[in-house]
Order: sequence, then C-alpha cells, then structure tokens
Amino acid sequence: MAPNETRDELVFFVNGKKVVEKDVDPETTLLTYLRRKLGLCGTKLGCGEGGCGACTVMISKYDPFRKKILHHTANACLFPVCALHHVAVTTVEGIGNTKSRLHPAQERIAKSHGSQCGFCTPGIVMSMYTLLRNNPEPKMEDIEDAFQGNLCRCTGYRPILEGYRTFAKDANCCGRVANGTGCCRSERENSMNGGCCGGKANGPGCCMNGKEDNVTMVSSSLFNSSEFQPLDPTQEPIFPPELMTQSNKQQKQLCFKGERVMWIQPTTLKELVALKSQYPNAKLVVGNTEVGIEMRLKNMLYPVIIAPAWISEMNAVQHTETGVTFGAACTLSSVEEVLRKVVAELPPHKTEVFQAVLEQLRWFAGPQIRNVAVTKKLGFLYVTEKMLYAFMNLPLIAATALGGNIMTASPISDLNPVLMASGSKLTLVSNEGKRTVTMDEKFFTGYRKTIVKPEEILLSVEIPYSKKGEYFSAFKQASRREDDIAIVTCGMRVLFQEGTSRVEEIKLSYGGMAPTTVLALKTCQELTGRDWNEKLLQDACRLLAREMDLSPSAPGGMVDFRRTLTLSFFFKFYLTVLQKLSKNHNDINNLCEPVPSNYVSATELFHKDPIANAQLFQEVPKGQAVEDMVGRPLMHVSATKQACGEAVYCDDIPHYENELYLTLVTSTKAHAKILSVDASEAQNVPGFVCFVSAKDVPGSNITGIANDETVFAKDMVREILVPNPVTCVGHIIGAVVADTQEHSRRAAKAVKIKYEELKPIVTIQVCHLLYFGEMYLGGQEHFYLETHCTLAVPKGEDGEMELFVSTQNPMKTQEFAANALGVPSNRIVVRVKRMGGGFGGKETRNTILTTAVAVAAFKTGCPVRCMLDRDEDMLISGGRHPFLGRYKVGFMKNGRVKSLEVSYYSNGGNSVDLSYGVIDRALLHLDNSYNIPNVSSVGFVCKTNLPSNTAFRGFGGPQGMMIAECWMSDLARKCGLPPEEVRKLNLYNEGDLTHFNQKLEGFTLRRCWDECLSSSSYHARQKLIEEFNKQNRWKKRGMCIIPTKFGISFTVPFLNQVRKFATLVLCWTRLDGLSVVLVQAGALIHVYTDGSVLLTHGGTEMGQGLHTKMIQVASRSLGIPTSKIFISETSTNTVPNTSPTAASVSADINGMAVHNACQTILKRLEPIKQSNPKGSWEDWIKAAYESCVSLSATGFYRIPDVGYNFEKNEGKPFCYFSYGVACSEVEIDCLTGDHKNIRTDIVMDVGTSLNPAIDIGQIEGAFVQGLGLFTMEELRYSPEGNLYTRGPGMYKIPAFGDIPTEFYVSLLRDCPNSKAVYSSKAVGEPPLFLSASVFYAIKDAIYAARKESGLTEPFRLDSPATPERIRNACVDTFTKMCPSAEPGTFKPWSVRV
Ligand SMILES: Cc1cc2nc3c(=O)[nH]c(=O)nc-3n(C[C@H](O)[C@H](O)[C@H](O)COP(=O)(O)OP(=O)(O)OC[C@H]3O[C@@H](n4cnc5c(N)ncnc54)[C@H](O)[C@@H]3O)c2cc1C
Ligand code: FES
Ligand code: FES
Repeated sequence: MAPNETRDELVFFVNGKKVVEKDVDPETTLLTYLRRKLGLCGTKLGCGEGGCGACTVMISKYDPFRKKILHHTANACLFPVCALHHVAVTTVEGIGNTKSRLHPAQERIAKSHGSQCGFCTPGIVMSMYTLLRNNPEPKMEDIEDAFQGNLCRCTGYRPILEGYRTFAKDANCCGRVANGTGCCRSERENSMNGGCCGGKANGPGCCMNGKEDNVTMVSSSLFNSSEFQPLDPTQEPIFPPELMTQSNKQQKQLCFKGERVMWIQPTTLKELVALKSQYPNAKLVVGNTEVGIEMRLKNMLYPVIIAPAWISEMNAVQHTETGVTFGAACTLSSVEEVLRKVVAELPPHKTEVFQAVLEQLRWFAGPQIRNVAVTKKLGFLYVTEKMLYAFMNLPLIAATALGGNIMTASPISDLNPVLMASGSKLTLVSNEGKRTVTMDEKFFTGYRKTIVKPEEILLSVEIPYSKKGEYFSAFKQASRREDDIAIVTCGMRVLFQEGTSRVEEIKLSYGGMAPTTVLALKTCQELTGRDWNEKLLQDACRLLAREMDLSPSAPGGMVDFRRTLTLSFFFKFYLTVLQKLSKNHNDINNLCEPVPSNYVSATELFHKDPIANAQLFQEVPKGQAVEDMVGRPLMHVSATKQACGEAVYCDDIPHYENELYLTLVTSTKAHAKILSVDASEAQNVPGFVCFVSAKDVPGSNITGIANDETVFAKDMVREILVPNPVTCVGHIIGAVVADTQEHSRRAAKAVKIKYEELKPIVTIQVCHLLYFGEMYLGGQEHFYLETHCTLAVPKGEDGEMELFVSTQNPMKTQEFAANALGVPSNRIVVRVKRMGGGFGGKETRNTILTTAVAVAAFKTGCPVRCMLDRDEDMLISGGRHPFLGRYKVGFMKNGRVKSLEVSYYSNGGNSVDLSYGVIDRALLHLDNSYNIPNVSSVGFVCKTNLPSNTAFRGFGGPQGMMIAECWMSDLARKCGLPPEEVRKLNLYNEGDLTHFNQKLEGFTLRRCWDECLSSSSYHARQKLIEEFNKQNRWKKRGMCIIPTKFGISFTVPFLNQVRKFATLVLCWTRLDGLSVVLVQAGALIHVYTDGSVLLTHGGTEMGQGLHTKMIQVASRSLGIPTSKIFISETSTNTVPNTSPTAASVSADINGMAVHNACQTILKRLEPIKQSNPKGSWEDWIKAAYESCVSLSATGFYRIPDVGYNFEKNEGKPFCYFSYGVACSEVEIDCLTGDHKNIRTDIVMDVGTSLNPAIDIGQIEGAFVQGLGLFTMEELRYSPEGNLYTRGPGMYKIPAFGDIPTEFYVSLLRDCPNSKAVYSSKAVGEPPLFLSASVFYAIKDAIYAARKESGLTEPFRLDSPATPERIRNACVDTFTKMCPSAEPGTFKPWSVRV
C-alpha cells in the first residue's frame, strides 16, 4: 500500500508535555530533537554511536497486553525521532531539579561524589532512574548491570556504585545509614562477612577500626547517607493518560517525509509486505543500531525507511514442538527474558542452545542497546508447550532486535554462530509468500550479505530445543567484557550416539574468522563418528588450526590471537562436554576420561563477585571550626547541577539567532601534496554558507606551540618547496560553514580533494642494536566525554571576538586566535565555564579547532559553533605519546641496581606541540622511585605522519616510570628474588639525591610502602595465590606492588628557540632548560555589598574539583562560609596570562593566588574589623563600602626556585614530589587472555588533603584511567597512518565492570606539605601510574602460566596488556599450533606506531 501523500503528525510526550511535530525529518535523532528543538540540553552527546551512554533517556509505553507501563533506557543519539509516536520520553530534566527537588537518583550520585566533570552524569542518572522505575528494590547486581552501557572517564566508577548501593536491598553494607539497624558499623559481626569495607574486618585499614589513634581520627565516610531522601515510587510523574487511551486504539499507517528520507510505519504484515515489494531497496529499521550508525558514520543514505515495529507477527513469541519462535522484531532483552523463563521450566537437556544464547546476551552491548524493557518481576504469559503466541512483545522501536542482528550479517555477530550451530530456522515473507530456510553454511553469501532477497522480510526465527545427548556452548572474547563486540565468538554443538560418547553430529560455528559467520565443515566431518577423548581433542585442534586459518593481513589484525582462540574455545567446549558427559551418564564414565581437577576452572564462566571498597582519610583536627571546610569532604560545587542536567557546557549555550555551524574538512592521507580542493558540490547542499581555507585567515596561518603548524594546511615555512602538504590523516585543510550542523556535515562530505601521495612515516623506527631489554607502550586517547567545542561570537567592532571554548588553556587559545585573526590579544575574550573532561587533551590541541572557528566567524561576521563528533575528535586531536624504551641495567646478585643506560623514543606526530616537555618528564621519571647510582639516558622525539601527540595526565611520567618497572621486574626474575623485595631494596631514602640531583625531602614513600604491604596482607595473599596457581592449570593469579614518585611542577621547555625536528626519525636529546614561566597564577576577588564574594582564578574546571577547592581555600582565608563564595567561570578578561590548568599544580598555584587576594582584602578590612570586632562579615563589608575601601583585589603567585638545566644537571625541576604505592591482584584466563581485577589497595600521600572526597576521587579516577592505558586501550593504525579506532565501538576505555572488585584507598596520615597551600599536595596526575601494579600483576600471572610450559626466563610484554598480548604470552600447545607469519612477508592490517 502506497504511503499517504500527506505528512503525518508525530505525537509524543517529553517529561509529561505533549509534543506535536508536524514537520519531522526522519534523519533527526531524539538527541538532536531534545537539544535543539526543545532546548533540553541535559542529555549529552558523547559519541553518537550508542557506545557511551551520555545520551541515555527513559522511554515508556503502555503495554495493553500486560496492562503495564513499561520503561526502558535508550540511547537518544541512535533513536530516530520518528519512532516516538505515542511514546513518552523522560529526560534528566524531567525527574528533578535544583530549584525544587532533586530525585534520589540525582541526589545520591552528587552527594556520594560520583560526578566530577559531570558530562556522563545525566546518562548515568537516567540508567539508575529507569532501573528504579522498573524495580524500586534492585539488587546490587541489577545496579551494576544497569550501567553496562554507560561510561565515565573521570570517577573510576567506585563512588557512583557506592552512592547507588544505598538503593540496593542486598547491599553488604547498610548503605551507610549510619548505625541504623543492621548497619555493619553497629553490628561488628556483620563486618566479618564483608561489611562496608568488604571483608577487611578489623584488619589494618579496616573501616571498622574507625578510630582514635593518639590524636588522629581516621574516617571512612565521604558522605552521610542519612541525609539522603528516601525513594518514594509514588512521587514519580504519572504516565500520560492520553497514551494509555491511544494504546488501545488501532494504529494507522504513518508516513513522515524529510529533506532526503521518507519514513513509513505500517501496521499490518500485509501492508509491510506490500511496501517492501514497492520499495525493495527500502531499509527496514527496527533498533536502528546498525542503520543509524551507517547513516551517521558511513555516510549512507536510505531514502525510504520502513519501520515494522507495530507488526504484531514480528513481535510474537511462539512455543512450538521443536523450539521457540521469536518474531524478528523481538528485542534482545525480551528474547533474554523468554529464554530465562523457558530454561527455568524445562529440563536442562532441552535448553542447551537457549543457555548458550543467554550467555551470549549476557555480554551483548549495554541495556540501552539490548533494551531492558521488562524486569524480571513483570508478569509472564508463557503457559504450556503447546500454547501459541504465548508472549506478545511490546513493540518498542530503537532497541536492538533479533532480526536486525541476523540481517546485519556482521561476521562478529554474537548470535549468528549460535543460530548457525544450532540450525535455527528463519521464516521469510514477501509478496510471493513465505519460505523457511535453515541458518547454515549457505545462509551468508559474503561480507554482510545473505540469501534473503531484497523484497523479502525476515518474519521470525525458531531457536530449537536440544535433545538428550546433545551439548551446546557459546564463547566470546572481546577487548572489554562489557559492551564490546567480539574479536572471536562461536557456537558449538555436539550430539552423541545414544548412551555413548561417540559423536553423531557436530557443528562448530565461528564469528570473527572470515567475512561471514562460518562453519568448520571439514573439521566437523572428520570428528563425526569419533569418541570424545584426548585424541579427538588433538585432532580437532590440528584440523581447526588448518581450517580456521587467516591471512596474516586479515582485516581486524590480531591474527595469531584469533587463530589461537578458535582452538582455546574448542578446548573449553571439549572439557565442558566431558564434564557434562560424566555428570549425565554415570554409565559411560568409563568411556571418557574425567576432567583433571586442575582443568575444571577452564570451563567456568566468568562471574562477578560482589564489589567491596573502603576509602580512608584523616579527619580534620578536633576543634576546627565547623564552617572551615578545608580538609572536609565537601561535595563538588557543581555536582547537583550536573546530576540534574542543568550544568552548562560549551555546546549547551543557547543558540544565537544568526548562528552558523562549522564542519572541518580534513586530510584522508597521511602525507601528501594537495593538488586541488573543490567545494563546488558542497555549495549545492541546502544551507551552505561558505568554505573557509588558508586564504581566509586574516592574520597568520602559522600557529602551534612551536610555530610549526598551520590553521589550515598550506605551504609551511620550512617546506616552501612542497606546495600544500598535509602531514597526517586528519590534518585540517578547510571548513564548511552552513546554517545547521546537518547541512554543514553534508556539505563537508561533498568537498573533493585531490592529493599526490608521498611516503608516510607513522612508526617509531629505530635501528636494531643489541640491548638488554626493550618495552613498547602504546598511546592513549583522552576520551574526555565532551569532545572539543568552540563557539565564536564576533562583536562587530574593533576586531573583538568572544570565544566560548572547552579548553584548559585560555591564554594560548586567546593568543592563537588573536594571531590568526591579526588582532591584538586585548580584542579576544576566552571564556570557560567548565569542561566535560580534559586530561591534557585540551591543554593545547583545542586551538586547532578554535582558530578555525574564529576565522570562520570573522569571515561570515556571524557566531559560529562547532563541537567535534567523536570520530573527528579522535582522528585529529592526538593523544598520549607512544613510547619505546631500551635499557641496559647493571645490578648485583642481591638485586641492587648499580647502573642504568636507557633510551626513550616517543612518537611526537606531525608537530612539536608539547612533545619536548613530555620526553623531559619521562627522562626525569626514568628512576620511578629507585636510587640508581649511575644513569645515562637519552630521549628522542620522533616526527611522524600522525596527528600531533600532546599532553595527557602524567605528561610522559607514566611512560618513563613504566619502563623502569619493566627492567625492575626483569632483574628480580634474573636474580630469582621476590620482586617486592628487590623493589624495596632499591627505594630511595630521605635525603637521597635523584639522578637530576634534587634532594628528596619529606620522603614519605617508604611509609606508603609499608602501609600498603601490610594493609593488603601482601605476604599472606601471595601464599594463597601460589596455592591457587598450583590447583589451576588454565587460570592463573598474579600480584604486584608498585611505588610512584611524581615530581610537581611544569616541565615544559622554553620554546623561544626553534630546535631541530627532523622529517625522519629524529635525534634530539638536549633540552634548553625547564620553564619557570608556567608556574605562576592569578586570582581576582570581588566582594559585593551584601557580603557575597565572586571569585575568579586562572584555573579551569574540568571535573577535578578545582573550583570547589578554591572556594574552600577562600573560605578559610576570609573566614566565611563557602556558601558566600561563588565562581562563575574562567576568562581572559578577569585573570590574564593564565598558566594552563595542567601538571597537577593548579590547586597549588591558584590556591596561593586566591589566598593572596584574600589577604589583600583582609588587610584592607583590618581597621574596620578592629573598630567592630563583634561585627559580622556583612557588617564589615558594608562599613568598608561606606568608607570607600576597595573590595576588589587581585592575587598573584609563582612557585619559587624551580628551573633546571639539562646541560649542567643542576637546578630544581620540581617543587616537591607526591608519593603513593599500590598493590593489585588479578586473575587471567590463560586460554582466552581475559583478565579480572580482583583487588587493589592504594596508599597515597596527598599532604594534608584540602578535600578528601575530591582527592580520593582523583586517585581512583586516575588509577582507572591508567588501568585503561596499561591493560585495555589500544589505538590501531593502518600502515598508511589511518586511525581505525575512532569511537567507543573500537576503542575501549574501562567500564563499570573493569574496576577492581575490591578497591581500597587510604590517604597517608600526618604528612603536611610545606610547599603548597594549606599543607596540601598535588593529586591529579601522580596516582595514574599506580595502575602499573595491575599490568605487572598480569605479567606475574603470565609467568605462572609460562612455567607450566617450562618457560621461566624474563619475557617481553608490551603495554597495554590486552587479551591478545596476554594470550599470546601464555605459550602452550595451542599457541604453538598457530605460529606467526614471518615479519616482512606480508602487509599487516595494523602497525605499532
Ligand atoms: C553500542 C553497540 C554495541 C553493540 N554490541 C554488540 C554485541 O555485543 N554483539 C553483537 O552481535 N552486536 C552488537 N552490536 C551490533 C548490533 O547488535 C546490531 O547492530 C543489531 O543487532 C542490529 O539490530 P537492530 O534492530 O538495531 O537493526 P537495525 O539497525 O534496525 O537494522 C539492521 C539491518 O537489518 C535489516 N533488518 C532488520 N530487521 C529486518 C527484518 N525483519 N527483515 C529484513 N531485514 C531486516 C535492516 O534493514 C538493516 O539492514 C552493537 C551495536 C551497537 C551500536
Ligand atoms: S552519545 Fe549516545 S551513546 Fe554516546
Ligand atoms: S564525571 Fe563521568 S565522565 Fe566526567
């Protein structure tokens, strides 16, 4: 049936208000609609591909079958607005606000310090809120599962889980309803079972000890849950009654037409079939998780979209004689729910396949994608085996559907191998009628192709019952356990001849081993008729190794790993079946060998243990005034606004009437001459305004920290003979400006560029000298949740421009923009309210976007905005420098290090940026915490055709220290001594000189070490680990304790001299001296006549709580409550010439500047106070005003006596050092390379903490970010320098499930630091390196695995320790069957840069 010629109205509700949209564009997502059309900016854009959860909203619909309102989370970024007809949407603004009442889900995340930058917070709040709407009494496990689709880059997740644990009915602590009934603190015996510190009961560091120890009180309460409002489900907003009435009415077919796309939503199967016959090329959209991404990221256009969500046959579940049939539009969560029920009710032998599907679904995406539409508590209509249409799904669109997963035909689909191995049946329907096909080796005909004809629709899928004697397993290995697509995945089925262990049928189906899901047909054929024994295992592996071969150049890379996994999975299947055979058929026990007891754990599926944590800090001294907040765990001042979606980030600034949008046009070649740029096609895109390029730059096109970059690619100063060269993929060539973001994106894609390619250099290339050891550390993407964003507003006179920027560096942003615009800096104002994370990525690299936007605003005379898409941001903005370290170490038999010779090579990318400073810091940290009498070191920055790498939390320090720990762990092995003994032996002592001749004073590291060793029960647990490793062949545990010493100051060299930065790998070692320029700060304080204080300082707020700490400092300095002090923003017209907020020193230097400004005010007030000593602050301020005393003051501070000369090895690079120690334990799966973080204990010296909640938040956040760096996050480049990993789909940062199950942090007591404000210490960067303890614990576990194969010598493990690296290092019979191809004989898919 042809769609209506007239456009239909889209009707839905948002936060209880009805929306009637007459002119809806099917290309618009719910996120765009909320933010642009409705001005609801609480819902954030973090990735646009369903991978981060920042855009999570709740979707509700009335289910007339069950007479229930169902709620589920959804990713608004993928949700087509057209799918909202008769649906209610709830956003973070709809559940509570700071003006009236916060919802408990908002209040608890804020007060438990679970919001730092806050960009992820609304999404996390909505995941929690939806769970509570479905289940007001969740279990802790439900809470953890609810966050599988949410990422946070700041907090390290622990505070979020701890805050929300207070909702859990089974929390092992009382949820800190302090000393209430059942509280583990009042009932000490509970603590023996776990308690709030998770089983450390009364041991050292136990929170139960809570505790007076001489005069020092230690506390474990970072928040007081007795302040929390109770959850009252009756207070929730009501579901719109109109939608209930509507749901009982017959829907009519809908049609929505936009500029390029028509959306048709039929109501019957007949209509659907007719439409598909009329538009055979139309896309059927169910969840849109595939189509949405194709349209956004792959530039695909589908002019006709048909949405079958309302077709009842496609949502039905039918229980047949042979299996369970699911309509193709059934959501994955409903499939999960049905199968769970069936598994619980039917005998286990009938549900082997279903159990495997459930196991795959356990790790399938996040709930927003899977659609947790129904809770386990809701009624279920499944009745008997014969009942038809037993369960009618609620037709909810924009949640991944079973049919979509099949029809996407992805080679790494998790379900297709299971469906294929089980021989599931697919029913297809078209105008010609129905036909049923079996999902077998013929179903997939090529990459993302199937035998389904264009006019056909997948109607349903029957998943079969298993029978007696049939066994089924499914396995998946991904880079990250939660919410990640598979590297290799499989479904395995075997049927035995009755009463025997002889194979009657076997099917092994793999994903990730070919362009389609494949069956190992030859292997299966050979195994049929064979007995299930060791011989079969050996033959199967041999055959699989041959049949599941991969070209060494195969797309996706990881070739050896993937091949090995096919064998590992089969081995797991073999053991699992053997176990079941023994259990199910005692009579055939003698026919098959029993599973050796030390092999049993190889068959165990991953399970989570209940989380436990404790955070200990020193309480403020007795007698400290109640209103003096220094040292107390004050909540981040923006936390409640962030939790309510009220906090304004750069892209939340309301749009100006004449505002335009900019999209960058960047190079697709790593090294090339630009022959031509043709923007003529772009001009045809509606709304196109102009193309901006180098010729539009009114000032200088030369920019960058070392003046070696361009605003837009053009002839470079030193390469004048090479016209228009681009030097990396992502190099900015120009930009398109249009009326809307959609139009500018489309127009940018239409710009044609012709290149003449030149040979790129993308890797660190060094000659092969013989060295004792070598380690490579991969780079890291910042993955701040808020991507780079700039809004430039020209003021229309005297060249003035206002720039709203997400930057850590207002000063350089101002300077670079002024330089590009050819105006003095005094015409440019840079304003920063807050950032959604920075981590160094916004220290300089934001300027490449800001200058382009400023030039566009200058050219058009209009405000211009651009927030980079995640893929653009990852492509162009660089990250942490990859490092190669080579070392020779001289040591004594007792493990004492005598000499060290190291060379560090870093991959700087295509410009200098901060690379010199980064390598300096790496060299200054090459000792980590060890006293090495003789050091010879050299650092090289390699210039390559990659985007310029830049600052990243730690600034080269972590790389420098990581290589130190590499040789340290190797030499302990060489000496045959316990690594912790060798480490301790080499630790510095008080008063020692470092290799850069700085004396260590106030050296608290040994105290941290001893406390950590003891609180982690290191030695006792070491014994348990040894025992575990003896009893388990295929799972191994490891533990490691690691110290850190981190120098506090900037290490950025003077850049007033141009230094050599060669086009090839460059040799470059000497530094001119470290900057003292950056160690200065300013503050401005205004006191108004009502006594309120407006504070401004040079630092920017990126989530680290700097503004909160500055308010605490000002509050103590002025002696007034924090509530009287407000910080609005950071801007260049209030505090000029600011140092970037970086190098961990911002609280130190800005804190002192704030203190100094306060002192000026106090000094002026002194006579007034003296004349009225009993007066209040308000009285004094009023009197001061009336006496014409200035109530505005500036403060300034510079760190004294820092600066260092490399040539002479003299001076003081650092003001002081921060110290810490961490001990981590892990368990690895030797067969798959998976690992689990069992426990981490951290002891950190932060001086006298200004704010223990913020400091502990920084420690945990940095630790988890380091966990990503060293164990998970891997940037992958093609040999041509093209970045593959451009979003959360391929680049995995740690998720909720990756943090240590037990996580204990304690702040070292009684260690005031005389060098910083109020005796505090810097904390932002130093703890990051402590996550190396996880890396070396993994290495320790791998040693245990290798020992089983007779390998005991030190081995090389590069960072990150991904599943691939772990598996490949656990050398065994399986890895030996999959040898690597000879390097140089093939072109790899990806290269190590
Ligand atoms: C963040 C994220 C995480 C993911 N994680 C995983 C994972 O862990 N494991 C995994 O296997 N996959 C994963 N995926 C992939 C995802 O599962 C698939 O994209 C999804 O299953 C497709 O279902 P959909 O309903 O969203 O399909 P849609 O995008 O709506 O459609 C997909 C394709 O199927 C076609 N189609 C849909 N239904 C029919 C039908 N009935 N008849 C004919 N053609 C039809 C459509 O026309 C389209 O070509 C993930 C995707 C995202 C975005
Ligand atoms: S923005 Fe939607 S999931 Fe990331
Ligand atoms: S607070 Fe979660 S990303 Fe910043």
